[in-house]
Amino acid sequence: MRVSVIGCGYLGAVHAACMAELGHDVVGLDVDEAKIEKLARGIAPFHEAGLPQLLEKHVGSGRLRFTTDAREIADAQIHFIGVGTPQRQGHLGADMRYVDSAIETIIEHAVTTDGPVLVSGKSTVPVGTAQRLAGRLDGSGKDLILAWNPEFLREGYAVKDTLHPDRIVYGLPEDRERGETAKAMLDECYATPLAEGTPLVVSNYPTAELVKVAANSFLATKISFINAMAELCDATGGDVTRLAEAIGYDDRIGPKFLQAGIGFGGGCLPKDIRAFMARAGELGVDQALTFLREVDTINLRRRDLAVELAENALKDRLVGKKIAVLGITFKPDTDDLRDSPALDIATRLWARGAELAVVDPAAGPELRERRPDLTVPETVDEAVAGADLVMILTPWKEFVELDPAVLIGKVGTPNIIDGRNVLDPKRWRDAGWNYYGMGRSESIW
Ligand code: UDX
Repeated sequence: MRVSVIGCGYLGAVHAACMAELGHDVVGLDVDEAKIEKLARGIAPFHEAGLPQLLEKHVGSGRLRFTTDAREIADAQIHFIGVGTPQRQGHLGADMRYVDSAIETIIEHAVTTDGPVLVSGKSTVPVGTAQRLAGRLDGSGKDLILAWNPEFLREGYAVKDTLHPDRIVYGLPEDRERGETAKAMLDECYATPLAEGTPLVVSNYPTAELVKVAANSFLATKISFINAMAELCDATGGDVTRLAEAIGYDDRIGPKFLQAGIGFGGGCLPKDIRAFMARAGELGVDQALTFLREVDTINLRRRDLAVELAENALKDRLVGKKIAVLGITFKPDTDDLRDSPALDIATRLWARGAELAVVDPAAGPELRERRPDLTVPETVDEAVAGADLVMILTPWKEFVELDPAVLIGKVGTPNIIDGRNVLDPKRWRDAGWNYYGMGRSESIW
């Protein structure tokens, strides 16, 4: 099929590359010239496993093109919308201007003289948006059908999640004939994952929109739940990692997303739960989601607690103390710094007078550009040299695997804060470190 993808950020660029991998002819459109210039040369503008290989393969073969010229999307049979819906300045709600502008671009350029053309929304939007956009398309004078087809990809696994998703969701128009046309086009587009047995859920627009925010709210709630338990563990001498292991064996609960620490961040979970609350307020059902306010509060409190932990470790004297921060992205295997708890914590410690040396396997160059006030060395050895405190804030594999017996010879004072509870406290204590986890008491043996 001929496919266009509007918006070439984390979601759109990966979707475009994966659509080419599924055999379609794809054009990716974005207004950011620097980004498009890189993508058009087959270079990934951000760190994402598997993306460089797909770009090289399909840009090279000509099946995948990137452009800033909206006229090039004209002959696509499906237009995917993958633009951002960031949090609005000074407001909890989502900023819809990029989605609205994508719709106008499609209306202006899509050619529908050979039959209906599908517009498939992938961005995370406030429930009710699809109905509004469908109204706009209906009044456009062109034969454009809207479907809502949310995306569930995780950064770091985005290619895998797009090619082999857990499920595919179609939100279709109420009009049966148009709904069936949209379904047939999406079925053709996703023929490969559907043939592999990926579950398909077909619904109306609001359900499809809600599925996405409900899934992210559930994940955020799960993380804040275990972080609340971590606070209880701290107050009582319990150990949250053992607690999580024990409750996770119950397969109604499951072991995933029960890792307590400095909390969730990134471009999705925090803004999505806030936008969801704002939307519930507009719909007059804000009481249904007041628990999400608590989820957000618990999550942000983790950052305060990490700062307090650092103050305790350094006996309340941060001025002039050297802190080595290992990992600054919002999670490993990405270079994304959006709403990163690690960056927030590092910034607060810096503001209290500490000297920060930050090392990260992917975000170093961007951090150097954005934050000249922080020292950003290339290696762990440089970062920890003479440090009064080491903090693991993002659990990149290379940090989790550090040898405490070797590292201790490089620091000034052997204080380690394990902001993600990924180290073995006993091993680090036995090697001579003052180990501080988040909700972890000293092991009994
Ligand atoms: C999330 C959803 O997982 C994905 O389905 C959706 O499409 C987009 O939002 P992503 O933002 O890539 O994906 O990150 P995710 O892996 O969900 O992690 C989010 C944050 O939660 C990270 O900061 C991570 O470190 C944190 N986290 C995750 C925890 O603190 N504990 C956990 O147990 C799991």
